[in-house]
Amino acid sequence: MTPAPQGFYGSDMSIRSRFFAATYDRFMQDAQEAGLAAMRQQLLADARGDVLEIGAGTGLNLAHYGSDVRTLTLTEPESPMLRRLERRAAELAPEATVLRAPAEDLPFEDASFDTVVSTLVLCGVDDQPRAVREIRRVLRPDGQFLFFEHLRSADPKIARTQNRLNWLNRLVVCCDCNRPTLDTIREVGFDVQAEDTALPKAPPFARPAACGTATYSPILRSGLAASG
Ligand SMILES: C[S@@+](CC[C@H](N)C(=O)[O-])C[C@H]1O[C@@H](n2cnc3c(N)ncnc32)[C@H](O)[C@@H]1O
Repeated sequence: MTPAPQGFYGSDMSIRSRFFAATYDRFMQDAQEAGLAAMRQQLLADARGDVLEIGAGTGLNLAHYGSDVRTLTLTEPESPMLRRLERRAAELAPEATVLRAPAEDLPFEDASFDTVVSTLVLCGVDDQPRAVREIRRVLRPDGQFLFFEHLRSADPKIARTQNRLNWLNRLVVCCDCNRPTLDTIREVGFDVQAEDTALPKAPPFARPAACGTATYSPILRSGLAASG
């Protein structure tokens, strides 16, 4: 397992982090049954080649990877989650590599993966633009970034409510409900194909979500070709 960089995991063993990990599967169960598991299945049907999943949590995606996956690497920065992830991976994907790492600092060479997966992670990373730049860096130029994320609503009225209630979202589920995640992904140089959707069973302000695929934009590709 990769050693944790000093300082990044200051809160790692906090009661909150342990409580979040211990209750996560139960907390998500209604959402899973109300459609989230099916959304995971649909998204991950496209995963292929060498696959990296960031912020893999307790491993709720593991049941959905198919035979197009050649290698599977799972990263997760929080120890209490990581322990659960290791247990579930041992059961469902014993060949997977499980590493402790934050999305902002991925311990991989450039262009290592054909697919990067993020589900419900970019709402909670410390530095979203940096995390997406890392995803781009470790992705091969013909690779794909598959994501399901809850985010800021395109409806200004709902977005205002999200801003007002974000403190509550942070308190209960340790993430932001109002991040402009699709803009961040585009700004880093990806083309995005996404569907507006909803996080099942979430309160209205945390429901707006997007599910999709991001690939290197032609500008990013031509920049790489020019520099390479
Ligand atoms: C809401 S959970 C989602 C877990 C899993 N991806 C899923 O779909 O069920 C958010 C996860 O992101 C992880 N996380 C928090 N900060 C992170 C960071 N900086 N980089 C990567 N993962 C992070 C949390 O530890 C947690 O496992």
